[in-house]
Amino acid sequence: MINDFIDKVICGNTLDILKKIPDNSVDLGITSPPYNKKEDNKGWLVDKVVYKGTSDNLPEKEYQQNQIEVLNELYRIIKPGGSFFYNHKIRWEKGVMYHPMDWLRKTKWVIKQEIIWDRMIAANLRGWRFWQIEERIYWLYKPDGKNLIGKELKSKHALLTSIWRLPPENKNPHPAPFPIELPTRIIYSIFDEEKGKIVIDPYCGSGTTLVAAKILGHHYIGIDISQEYINFAIERLKNYQAEIPKVQEELSKHFVKKTFKERKEKGEFVGKYRKNRNGQPLLEIIENSKKD
Ligand SMILES: C[S@@+](CC[C@H](N)C(=O)[O-])C[C@H]1O[C@@H](n2cnc3c(N)ncnc32)[C@H](O)[C@@H]1O
Repeated sequence: MINDFIDKVICGNTLDILKKIPDNSVDLGITSPPYNKKEDNKGWLVDKVVYKGTSDNLPEKEYQQNQIEVLNELYRIIKPGGSFFYNHKIRWEKGVMYHPMDWLRKTKWVIKQEIIWDRMIAANLRGWRFWQIEERIYWLYKPDGKNLIGKELKSKHALLTSIWRLPPENKNPHPAPFPIELPTRIIYSIFDEEKGKIVIDPYCGSGTTLVAAKILGHHYIGIDISQEYINFAIERLKNYQAEIPKVQEELSKHFVKKTFKERKEKGEFVGKYRKNRNGQPLLEIIENSKKD
């Protein structure tokens, strides 16, 4: 029964707990899993991201296999037409690039979008490569029947674009928390003003996703292997009011003065690809004028 899991923060191994949750019972998921950063061999900043109660150091093949299994369990428990937002990053080991797409394409999910999370801070300050200041967020979709695309987002959410500039949270004792704006943006964009949905974070850490869900009027399910982080998340959920201002600040960014359709109807600028009076795309005209 899904009621056994609702509004609970559960201590345990994600894959084991997910297997107990019924099919097609959860509306939305958001998570940032451990990244398998093999912290022992990395720079001082990455060294600090060490989780209590688990190592982040699996052979890469085993790590990816585990993530495929976790993602497929999540696919099973999410309702048809539901989504899962999976935060990860590109990593390198001894010159080999590991891209999240390497394992995401092996799961059952339809990959709906890749969002760039511009964190405006580099995790490793050496110059072997240009400083990596971004992470990725994959919007994964479970089709409802044959519809592989799903429902359209309202303009006020879609206008936030596929690049999210959100600095990391620094007032949280967890080594790698979400800024609360991030799960808030996802939950509000997906459900808009609807309430009472079920949101899961299967690696919930300090409980940021759960607090955002609660403030926005939804139910949550959290899983983490560390009892210490679980206790912290439970405390945070009790004191959720303290985080309402940050959630409201994010909500205030979801607005639109005029929709695309309204602009089009009034003949106003709708983007680079507007056509001129002769029906030629604007870009083509710019190209032509360069040749003159
Ligand atoms: C990137 S953190 C998530 C942080 C979270 N988004 C927040 O806002 O605090 C990943 C979490 O996964 C947990 N974890 C690592 N391995 C796990 C496993 N096998 N099962 C459950 N949790 C695990 C860690 O304890 C850590 O809290």
